Amino acid sequence: MKPPRSAAARRVLALWDDAEFGDRFHTKARWWSAPFAALEREVPLSGDILEIGCGHGVFSTYMALCSPSRHVVGVDIDAHKIERGVLADANLKPGEADVELRVSPSGEVPRIEGGWRAIVFADVLYLLTRERREALLAECADALAPDGLLIVKEVDTTPVLKAKIAQLQEVLATRVLRITDGDALDFPSGTELEGVVADLGLDATLKRIDRGYLHPHCVVVGHRPADG
Ligand SMILES: C[S@@+](CC[C@H](N)C(=O)[O-])C[C@H]1O[C@@H](n2cnc3c(N)ncnc32)[C@H](O)[C@@H]1O
Repeated sequence: MKPPRSAAARRVLALWDDAEFGDRFHTKARWWSAPFAALEREVPLSGDILEIGCGHGVFSTYMALCSPSRHVVGVDIDAHKIERGVLADANLKPGEADVELRVSPSGEVPRIEGGWRAIVFADVLYLLTRERREALLAECADALAPDGLLIVKEVDTTPVLKAKIAQLQEVLATRVLRITDGDALDFPSGTELEGVVADLGLDATLKRIDRGYLHPHCVVVGHRPADG
């Protein structure tokens, strides 16, 4: 668990000051429990960045606040979260952050000319079946620009006790509280994700980013070769 330390982190949460208690609580809880600062350091500082499954858009907006040279698009299947995120981002000052949030159907990867500099997932792929997850990652690899990055953050399956705590929390969020939409609950290991990304022809590396956190957070970064 880590508090928002940087100016950009404090700013992104301040955008929610006037929001309803539930959304304010949810966005703050996401920040404290997910290693967004470490994840942001994996993302290129400039270019077109797509976040799939952006939820309320906290990480999308944070990426844009961290670097004015990033153009960030966040998409999610949950229209309520996107609506609330757009309202929060309306508090940004002109020119403060280049970010747009929009609803997009499950499995769809928006395309842009020349491809995305990076496509990011933060705790989304466990909500898809293995088949749909692999199909979506393949679509993403194809939508990257040459030299682009596919950045996939998930909660690893080891150490087992920490992973079980994280998985129980997700069962509560999806099946009991119903604050998270998704087709399935299927937790891939970091190694499995690294293998899937490598099989797509990207240079894949797996890293733990869970120091100081309760959950075993990990990130796989897949690099599409410049001539690939
Ligand atoms: C645990 S939340 C994470 C949200 C955000 N990435 C964050 O880190 O705060 C998972 C999000 O994935 C979204 N989601 C689930 N399945 C999806 C899909 N097939 N395509 C896009 N978003 C999806 C849910 O609506 C939800 O907002």
